[in-house]
Amino acid sequence: MKAPLLEVRNVTAGYRPDLPILHGVSIHVGAAEMVTVIGPNGAGKSTLVKAIAGIVPISAGSVAIKGTDVTNLLTHKLATASISYVPQTANVFTSLTIDENLRLGAATLCKADAARRIAKAYDDFPVLLRYRGNKAKVLSGGQRQMLAVARALLSEPRLLVLDEPSAGLSPLMVSEVFSRLKTLVSTGVAILMVEQNVKAALAISDRTYVLAEGRNRIDGISSELAGDTEVAAIYLGAGGRKR
Ligand SMILES: Nc1ncnc2c1ncn2[C@@H]1O[C@H](COP(=O)(O)OP(=O)(O)OP(=O)(O)O)[C@@H](O)[C@H]1O
Ligand SMILES: [Mg+2]
Repeated sequence: MKAPLLEVRNVTAGYRPDLPILHGVSIHVGAAEMVTVIGPNGAGKSTLVKAIAGIVPISAGSVAIKGTDVTNLLTHKLATASISYVPQTANVFTSLTIDENLRLGAATLCKADAARRIAKAYDDFPVLLRYRGNKAKVLSGGQRQMLAVARALLSEPRLLVLDEPSAGLSPLMVSEVFSRLKTLVSTGVAILMVEQNVKAALAISDRTYVLAEGRNRIDGISSELAGDTEVAAIYLGAGGRKR
């Protein structure tokens, strides 16, 4: 069988060696697939994407991209492994202009590639062009997310890893950000996304993983999970089917 784009196998990880937060979590993402990770606050969703991004150390298990092991590879090296990660908070430099944010994101590229990809970012996200000379702090929450995503795309990743891109956004902004993400997937970029808005997550993604207490709880095709009372039960804290 062909190796999936991303394969996370039985990952144990945490902020301190004596205190694992993830206990053998496994997920996979196919090429041009959109996968969401949901679960209660503190379930370990951010820890999972941080472990994939090389920020939280993995003490057991593995992360592979197209069959190549990238376990504990440092974040800045992940770009060469085709992964780009956008953290949950503080994902743009608010005291820099939009243009400076993008140029910083393109700093490792040669001049010609940087110019071409930044031009494409402005094409793809016209709102950024409108504000290009302004400090990023003038952007709304949704526009900041667009900037963070645009910057993450500068390395032309095969997989974009996003931690709660809709956090704090108005419903209108959420649908705008999500429709941008859908477009990205249609161009061949895979997305792994943590999402606190369960309904929206299930509506937008191909497959969904539910984490609870640092473990896989339920997973499946998003449209099938949408009607699953057990998914709802986890969110109401009533527990669900054990794997
Ligand atoms: N920097 C850190 N140092 C130590 N423990 C942490 C750190 N960040 C998170 N944790 C702990 O790890 C556990 C999982 O946190 P995590 O941020 O992964 O949850 P989450 O599912 O993303 O929650 P939320 O929905 O609130 O964002 C929590 O018990 C949390 O206290
Ligand atoms: Mg989180």
